[in-house]
Amino acid sequence: MPNIVIVGIQWGDEGKGKIVDLLAERADIIVRFQGGNNAGHTLVVDGKKIVLHLIPSGILHPGKLCIIGNGVVVDPEVLVEEIESLRGQGFFPDDAMLRVSSEAHLIMPYHKQLDQAREAAATVGKIGTTGRGIGPAYEDKASRVGIRMNDLTNTGLLKERIELALAEKNFLLTRYFNQSPADPGQVFDHLAALSEKIVRYIADTPALLSYRIARGASVMFEGAQGTLLDIDHGTFPYVTSSHTVAGCAATGAGIGPTAIDAVYGISKAYTTRVGEGPFPTEFFDETGKCLQEKGTEFGATTGRKRRCGWFDAVAAQRSVRVNSLTGVIITKLDVLSGLPTLRICTGYEIDGTLIDQFPSDIPTLERAVPRYIDLPGFTDDIRNARDYSDLPENARSYIEKLEELLAVPVTMISVGAERTQTIIRRHPLPA
Ligand code: GDP
Ligand code: IMO
Ligand code: MG
Repeated sequence: MPNIVIVGIQWGDEGKGKIVDLLAERADIIVRFQGGNNAGHTLVVDGKKIVLHLIPSGILHPGKLCIIGNGVVVDPEVLVEEIESLRGQGFFPDDAMLRVSSEAHLIMPYHKQLDQAREAAATVGKIGTTGRGIGPAYEDKASRVGIRMNDLTNTGLLKERIELALAEKNFLLTRYFNQSPADPGQVFDHLAALSEKIVRYIADTPALLSYRIARGASVMFEGAQGTLLDIDHGTFPYVTSSHTVAGCAATGAGIGPTAIDAVYGISKAYTTRVGEGPFPTEFFDETGKCLQEKGTEFGATTGRKRRCGWFDAVAAQRSVRVNSLTGVIITKLDVLSGLPTLRICTGYEIDGTLIDQFPSDIPTLERAVPRYIDLPGFTDDIRNARDYSDLPENARSYIEKLEELLAVPVTMISVGAERTQTIIRRHPLPA
């Protein structure tokens, strides 16, 4: 059975949650492989809205196994809250539906404190993070003082690891940020209380995945954030602290790359971005306001307004390349209805020269003036379209132009937030 990766190819919030929830019906296992609760994945089923930050978007389907992989940074408080919230809404009937990697690192209270203190102190170079402690947690992983899920099962070791991590952190918090220090004993007690509710889910998930794949299970790897937020391939330093590209599904879940059969990239029919950083096709006029309102472009995690802009084919082409995309899934096409003209950026003018490659350095990208092609818009309400032929001609021409520019097929088109509001041209998983 095929194993597929779903990644965002813009700056996040492309509608990954909606698509993963829909496709999960045909997968056996759904795995998050990077990021943490900086993600906010919204699912709408029968008018009911569910926002997931940590648990994979397959959790609404009884009988599926959802895995939080080793590459994810887990805030134990959020994990417990999310489990309880799902249970309260009548989902997640069985503990066996969730497993968390023993190697996943924890987001500690002092990571959040540091993330927020840094953002508050920054006069230049503010990233506009979600404040969830993502950067500091990945820093501790890289500098080998992080605390892992496994440590929750060994209280002696856990105490030692907390003390080791806090030796440096408290210096930074008190002496650099003028904040109060974290108390190792309190941090330990806080974690010990939460761990009672978590340890039952901890498992050797790479071994579990490999066992299930060998026996024919179909796995869907659910990306968080988007390719342009990747720590290497994104708009550094205005990025998140993990690899968000498809290649990370292998390292972040603990499988080899040959276990992956196909990669699908999700993109809005236009572009949005939350937080700071360059955004060449951003619009500041009435169109922007109109899309912001019509597309309800508010962050699912922080509630911040999302910046809006036209579809950027230059940026998307780079994402197609770094992810080796098999196909593209376009979401929110319905939001474009009513605009007289639809613009697609096909090149940038930088210092008088026309270029068609996304620059990797920020000062250059900041000088990029987008060059557009204009296509005629459509006025019909397309939210009830279920077949490609139901779309008005101008909407189809828009999709076909995207296919031509990206040189990959658009295999699905989403026309509304509901699970059912989707046109499936080619399903990535067999029935
Ligand atoms: P994710 O982080 O990639 O999962 O995306 P988010 O959930 O943060 O943001 C996408 C938003 O768009 C959510 O509110 C979805 O319910 C909504 N959405 C997804 N697909 C569509 C669509 O095709 N049309 C409309 N109007 N809304 C959509
Ligand atoms: P989903 O999975 C959109 C952005 C933040 C900020 C930058 C760094 O819902 O698509 P961080 O807290 O990660 O250190 O913030 O990354 N960001 C997202 N933007 N969608 C997300 O996730 C995001 N996760 C982080 O706004 O600009
Ligand atoms: Mg989101």
